[in-house]
Amino acid sequence: MVAKEATSVPLMTPHKMGQLDLSHRVVLAPLTRCRSYGNVPQPAHAALYYSQRATKGGLLISEATGVSATAQGYPDTPGIWTKQQVEAWKPIVDAVHRKGALFICQLWHVGRVSTNDFQPDGQAPISSTDKQITPDAESGGTVYSKPRRLGTHELPLIVDDFRRAARNAMEAGFDGVEIHGAHGYLLEQFMKDSSNDRTDAYGGSLENRCRFVVEVIDAVVKEIGAQRVGIRLSPFVDYMDCVDSDPEALGAYMVEQLNRHEGFLYCHMVEPRMAILDGRRQIPHGLLPFRKAFNGTFIAAGGYDREEGNKVVANGYTDLVAYGRIFLANPDLPKRFELGAGLNKYDRSTFYTQDPVAGYTDYPFFDDDHVASAAPPA
Ligand SMILES: Cc1cc2nc3c(=O)[nH]c(=O)nc-3n(C[C@H](O)[C@H](O)[C@H](O)COP(=O)(O)O)c2cc1C
Repeated sequence: MVAKEATSVPLMTPHKMGQLDLSHRVVLAPLTRCRSYGNVPQPAHAALYYSQRATKGGLLISEATGVSATAQGYPDTPGIWTKQQVEAWKPIVDAVHRKGALFICQLWHVGRVSTNDFQPDGQAPISSTDKQITPDAESGGTVYSKPRRLGTHELPLIVDDFRRAARNAMEAGFDGVEIHGAHGYLLEQFMKDSSNDRTDAYGGSLENRCRFVVEVIDAVVKEIGAQRVGIRLSPFVDYMDCVDSDPEALGAYMVEQLNRHEGFLYCHMVEPRMAILDGRRQIPHGLLPFRKAFNGTFIAAGGYDREEGNKVVANGYTDLVAYGRIFLANPDLPKRFELGAGLNKYDRSTFYTQDPVAGYTDYPFFDDDHVASAAPPA
């Protein structure tokens, strides 16, 4: 019975992503874990964490990784701008490759989602704007500092940070990079009209607001090749005071920009917040226009489980599905999906703690002996 189930699992079918052959469609979503002490990834535990989640022909996206000293806003997140960081990533990437998986580095700049304490010499965080994020429940009590609006002449320097970080990711052995253009961080601060009040060529019209991220994309593509560059976008997500008045137009414009690059690796988009329909939490499935418009591999993320993932792969809504919280808590998620096995519950209290084991590498694997008694997939 279990074997029959395994042959009819759309998520477990192969997919060709550009030149890369994937054996299944269950992607590890980028997950910040705050265990890279002093912004240096720690091979001793990160190699184990990522290799636990690696499968032959699987795709992993790294936690958000800073492109420069001003890119940080959370404790102990990794970077990829120094030689030491690049060297520290190498054994982690090797461990993933030894399991036969592909590993993409998510390149990140937090912009104003930071405080002076995280910034070099205690300076103000940088952004599209000098408007501070309104303190609210989402920030978990953190009051983000008032940012400094970047001058037009400074923008090429930040573009260059992304370009150099992409080169460093290649040096570290990653298979590609994902530009983090989602969730209210620097690139989105420029893109969305609630957080971009500029009057130069990088503010105002949609084209102007997207100019900075387009320059980052172009520079990274030029540096390492379109076949190694993906992007994550979240036009519908209103995180960190980053809201756009026309998310459909924003997403459509960005997809057009990606399509200019023949062979662009993937477009990874985050679903709108869960909607409650008929009393049930449901994924709004708002990404279809973008999936249809984009020429390459599409990845959807946000609230998916096995059943929903299988559905959207089977009906062509997406090519791949990225899983965050349940992959965090189930290192062998693809195998559990294949077998229709039950899942470990995630423990939110250890998402962002610094312990090298607890809530990080100690989630149990599924025991093959229990296959027969596994609960049917929800
Ligand atoms: C602990 C944690 C850390 C996250 N870190 C990142 C990150 O570094 N970069 C990113 O783009 N999204 C990040 N996210 C968002 C996830 O990638 C994903 O989009 C989100 O959890 C929704 O998917 P899910 O319902 O499968 O968990 C994080 C989410 C969680 C729970």
